[in-house]
Amino acid sequence: MTKLKVAVLFGGVSTEHEVSIVSAKSVMQNLDKEKYEIIPIGITKEGKWLLYTGKIEDLDSKWTMYSIECFISPDRTKKALVKIKDSEATFIDIDVVFPVLHGLNGEDGTVQGLLELSGIPYVGCGVLSSALCMDKAFAKKLALLEGIPQGHFLVIYKDEYLSKKEYFIRRIESEFSYPVFVKPANSGSSVGISKAKDKDELILAIHEAFLYDTKILIEQAINAREIECAVLGNSEILVSALGEIVPSREFYSYEAKYIDGSSELIIPAKLEKQVEDEIKELAVKIYKLFECSGMARIDFFVDKETNKVYFNEVNTIPGFTSISMYPKLMEYSGIPYPQLLDKLIQLAIEKNQQKQSIKYSKEG
Ligand SMILES: Nc1ncnc2c1ncn2[C@@H]1O[C@H](COP(=O)(O)OP(=O)(O)O)[C@@H](O)[C@H]1O
Ligand SMILES: [Mg+2]
Repeated sequence: MTKLKVAVLFGGVSTEHEVSIVSAKSVMQNLDKEKYEIIPIGITKEGKWLLYTGKIEDLDSKWTMYSIECFISPDRTKKALVKIKDSEATFIDIDVVFPVLHGLNGEDGTVQGLLELSGIPYVGCGVLSSALCMDKAFAKKLALLEGIPQGHFLVIYKDEYLSKKEYFIRRIESEFSYPVFVKPANSGSSVGISKAKDKDELILAIHEAFLYDTKILIEQAINAREIECAVLGNSEILVSALGEIVPSREFYSYEAKYIDGSSELIIPAKLEKQVEDEIKELAVKIYKLFECSGMARIDFFVDKETNKVYFNEVNTIPGFTSISMYPKLMEYSGIPYPQLLDKLIQLAIEKNQQKQSIKYSKEG
């Protein structure tokens, strides 16, 4: 049997560079070596593309030491990786790309755009869907149009804020009650996110969030349990059991996610049947609304007192270590990690095949 050549992308120009390496290592370790030939491609923090030549089990932050310059060609007559060694270019055919990139420049539609041009099937959501899910401001505006339940929010642009600081602070204080969450519109892993309990904290939080984006969100803090749902599929959609995150800190901050190691994942989340059904129904609605394909993890808040459900966000390339919520939820729902990877690759190929029938010229 000829093996499928799967290029796994990791790293990236993103605050989640390190997390992506851990996710990608796990993906590569779980891909069935009988079925797939793995082509590991790292993107440095500066944006350099390199073919990783070391062993998968040795992949860590020092990966660039074992690498050769390369890039995926946007030329769709090639469908290949271009390797450059001693000033000579070699083409390596690729059957499918698995982007395991979190956050900006990877999960946000940019890499998906390149892959779309290349014509190579790729795992996960397309360009528009990735971009919409990444941008919390657009995601919330779209969800609002469709009546998806969510907390009150306000979008602020940096140039407007700088020229009208007092107006915005007054407006936030009249529209919201403390505490509020302040977050960059495009970020991930809670980078740049703060919970502000008074005016001083609010001003600092706004400053912090603007370090990571020129657009930020103010959100009413919800005293809530954090419930997550894994979704898999293109037109036929599978919704997993629900999981709950119990953060080790006041909220699920970067430290609570990756440093403390004591945040808890509870699968299945203990919820009333009615609440569980409502979340699962909403997950399907949101997955379709954002035109997701392949996979997404959709996160919700459930008010601790009223049990009211709120949409938080969609992650189109969720954490993928063997202890991450997405693979864990799928495993609990009957799809073990290696089969999940098979399914995602199959979905990528199916989606690409469906596009073959699209006409790009009027003639013929
Ligand atoms: N409106 C909110 N109410 C309560 N907690 C929130 C709110 N927004 C964010 N949080 C907390 O901050 C964490 C990170 O926010 P989130 O919007 O999920 O960003 P990221 O994309 O970085 O995961 C959440 O998991 C939660 O703990
Ligand atoms: Mg989140």
